[in-house]
Amino acid sequence: MRPSAVLLAVALAALLAPGAGLPVGRRGPRNKLLLVSFDGFRWDYDQDVETPNLDTMALDGVKARYMTPAFVTMTSPCHFTLVTGKYVENHGVVHNMFYDTATDMKLPYYTTLGLRKWWDNGSIPIWITAQRQGLRTGSFFYPGGNVTYQGTAVTLSRKEGILHDYKNEKEWRANVDTVMRWFTDEGLDLVTLYFGEPDSTGHRYGPDSQQRKDMVMQVDRTVGYLRDSIRRSGLESSLNLIVTSDHGMTTVNKKASDPVELRKITNFTFEDIQFYLLDYGPNGMLLPKEGKLEAVYEALKDAHPKLHVYKKESFPKSFHYANNPRITPLLMYSDPGYVIHGKVNLQSNNGEHGFDNGDISMKTIFRAVGPSFRRGLEVEPFESVHVYELLCKLLDIVPEANDGALSTLLPTLTPEATSTPSPTPQAGTSGVPGTLSTPGTARSTSHVTSAGGRTGPARLPGGCPALTTGMLLATVLLAQAA
Ligand SMILES: *[C@@H]1O[C@H](CO)[C@@H](O)[C@H](O)[C@H]1NC(C)=O
Ligand SMILES: *[C@@H]1O[C@H](CO)[C@@H](O)[C@H](O)[C@H]1NC(C)=O
Ligand SMILES: *[C@@H]1O[C@H](CO)[C@@H](O)[C@H](O)[C@H]1NC(C)=O
Ligand SMILES: [Zn+2]
Repeated sequence: MRPSAVLLAVALAALLAPGAGLPVGRRGPRNKLLLVSFDGFRWDYDQDVETPNLDTMALDGVKARYMTPAFVTMTSPCHFTLVTGKYVENHGVVHNMFYDTATDMKLPYYTTLGLRKWWDNGSIPIWITAQRQGLRTGSFFYPGGNVTYQGTAVTLSRKEGILHDYKNEKEWRANVDTVMRWFTDEGLDLVTLYFGEPDSTGHRYGPDSQQRKDMVMQVDRTVGYLRDSIRRSGLESSLNLIVTSDHGMTTVNKKASDPVELRKITNFTFEDIQFYLLDYGPNGMLLPKEGKLEAVYEALKDAHPKLHVYKKESFPKSFHYANNPRITPLLMYSDPGYVIHGKVNLQSNNGEHGFDNGDISMKTIFRAVGPSFRRGLEVEPFESVHVYELLCKLLDIVPEANDGALSTLLPTLTPEATSTPSPTPQAGTSGVPGTLSTPGTARSTSHVTSAGGRTGPARLPGGCPALTTGMLLATVLLAQAA
C-alpha cells in the first residue's frame, strides 16, 4: 500500500468506529421522530396472537428480539430511562409513587404524574434538551411529560384525566390524529405518545388471558392506523417511528401456598418500622426506626425463599437502582409469581411487573421504521438505557450525559443516517463507549459504577475530542480519493 492508502485505511477505520461521524453540516431537513409506548407490552405478546401490522412494521424496519428494561420494572422509572438514557438510580424517578420518608407522605401514581418535584430531580428528558437546541416537541400522556424541568415545559402537552379510560380504541385514534396535526400544523419535531395498554388488561386478567390477547390485537390495529396516518399526512419519508414499551408482565400465583406476607414473618414487627412502601407488586422499601436496622434486616433476610431483602449498599450493582438518596436503607423484591404483602393483603392483580429485569417475563418490545432505519433487520436484545442516544442521533441533537452508548443501536440505521454528522463527540459523553454494539452481547457489560459523574451536562462540541482529528483527516483523504 502507498502511504496515502494506509492513511486512508486508518482514517476510514476511525470513521467507521462506533459513534463516529463526518464533521460536516447536516444534509437536508431534519427528520421528525415519534416515540410511541404501549405500556406493559411483553416482548412475546405477538407470538400467540395475529399481529399483521406489527409484522409488516418489522419487515419494513427494525425489530429487537426483545429489550431489557431498567430496574425497577415499573412504569414511571422505565419511561424516564427511555427519555434520559440514565439508569433509575441516576435519574431519580425510583418509583411510580412519590414518597417522603421524613413526612411519611405517599402519593398514588396519577397524582405523582403531575408532581414536578418527583420528576425534576436533576435530569432532563429529551424533549427539554431538544427544545434548548431549537426544536419543538410534544408529549401525549407520556409519563413525566406534563411537568416542568428546570422551569421549562414541553411545547405541547396532554395529560389524561384522573378517571381516564385507557382502553378506548376510538380515543386512541383521535389521539393519533391529534399527534399527526402536531407534526403537520404545529411543526413539532418530536412527540412522545403513550397508551396505557396492554398493561391495564395484563394486570387485571393476567398475561395469559384471552383479554390480553384481544388487547394486543387492538394495539396491532392501532399500529396499522398509526402507519396509515403517517402516510396520509405525507410524513412517511420524513418521520421515524419507534414503537416500544416500559416492561413486561408475569402471572401472579394467587393460589401459592407460601405467599409473601411480611406481618407473618417471625421476629418482624411493624413496630420497628418508621416508614414503609409496600403492597406495590413485588417491590418494597423500609426505613427502620433508629437502632432497628440490624434487627429488621436479620428478621427478613432469610425469611422467605422468594423474597430478597437487602441493605441499600448491598443491593446488586447490576440493577443500577439503589445508589440514590431516595432509596431507603432496606429494600426488597420478590420472585416472579409472588407479590409482597404488608399489614394486610390488599393486592389482587392477576398480572404484575416490577420484578428482576433479567427475568424473561419482564422483557419488552422495540420496533422502529422510517427513513433512517434499515429494513427487515432483527437485532439481538439490548438494554433500554441505550434508546436515548439513538433518539438524539435521529433528531441530530447533542445528548445530555447519560448511561447509554450510541454504538449499541447505531447498526439499526441506514449507512446514510449513520454517517450524518453526530452533533457531539461520543467519546466521553457516554460512560460505556463501544459496548453492546454487536448481536449476542446485550446485557453483558454495560456498567456504570458511579452515579456522581453521570449528572453533569453533556460536553459540547468544540473541545477537540480525540476522534475529530482523525475524522478531519478522513474527510480530506476521502475528498482526495473521490
Ligand atoms: C432530588 O430529590 C431529593 C428528595 O427526594 C432532594 O433532596 C434533592 O435535592 C433533589 N435533587 C435535585 C437536583 O432536584
Ligand atoms: C399539562 O397538560 C395540559 C393539557 O392536558 C396543558 O394545558 C398543560 O399546559 C400541561 N402542563 C405542562 C407543564 O406541560
Ligand atoms: C427470633 O429472635 C430470637 C431472639 O433473638 C432468636 O433466638 C430466634 O432464632 C429468631 N427466630 C428467627 C426465625 O429468626
Ligand atoms: Zn408500565
